[in-house]
Amino acid sequence: MLCVDLSGKRALITGSTRGIGMAIAMYLAKAGASVIITGRDEGRAKEVAQHISSEFGVEALGVGMNMEDMRSIEEAYRRVEAQWGGVDLLINNAGITRDKLFLRMSLEDWEQVLKVNLTGTFLITSLAVKGMLKNRWGRIVNISSVVGFTGNVGQVNYSATKSALIGFTKSLAKELAGRNITVNAVAPGFIETDMTAVLSEEIKSAYLKNIPLGRFGKPEDVAGMVVFLCSEYASYITGEVVHINGGMY
Ligand code: NAI
Repeated sequence: MLCVDLSGKRALITGSTRGIGMAIAMYLAKAGASVIITGRDEGRAKEVAQHISSEFGVEALGVGMNMEDMRSIEEAYRRVEAQWGGVDLLINNAGITRDKLFLRMSLEDWEQVLKVNLTGTFLITSLAVKGMLKNRWGRIVNISSVVGFTGNVGQVNYSATKSALIGFTKSLAKELAGRNITVNAVAPGFIETDMTAVLSEEIKSAYLKNIPLGRFGKPEDVAGMVVFLCSEYASYITGEVVHINGGMY
């Protein structure tokens, strides 16, 4: 029987106190990895870590890490290093939207989305990659989006960051391949989380019409692919993007 075994691996998942990030943390833990749950609210991160630890019998750490704030990222990562020495798997999941038509989009709307989705990803990756280089093993998975490929009305800022993550993934994959570190991305379509819960029923039914599989995705639909990309079965895959969207693109 084939099975994914990630025991002995330490995984850090950004923005993992809910939604897709939390589902990824749970699936990695189910596969045996120790997990570091991070989010703006340290109390909530600790709660989720505690739950995962008792549910799956793995070590789990909850750490406050605000992806908008360089100092918070550095400080949190120093604590992770002090306790666990570093990480083997990094999942860049934290992301925000500030949707507005382009003509109404302020510089603040633009910069805030870039800060969390892109600069935060750059900062945590540059910290985490050092240990991976030393160990000559690592897995990085970036959460992009279908709108990084299709574009979307009202999401010039968000879709720009999600396309940029593809260039980030492909370039970094080339730089790190010689050290046995793979860098891949997943591009989810419409996944049912807090992020999409705010959309009107009218918009949701318009999306649904364009999804051949006839349903919205669940966080677990993304988590399964992330576990695969972290596993030994994916050791010859790097710089790749996997679309998880029920066939809509
Ligand atoms: P969500 O809004 O439920 O979760 C986002 C996560 O990021 C939360 O844990 C939140 O606390 C965290 N986060 C936001 N700002 C943060 C900050 N400044 N510092 C630290 N953490 C922060 O959204 P969802 O749907 O779970 O999104 C996860 C990722 O998947 C995001 O990158 C999103 O862009 C991407 N995605 C989501 C899709 C969807 O349909 N839900 C589709 C395609 C991509």
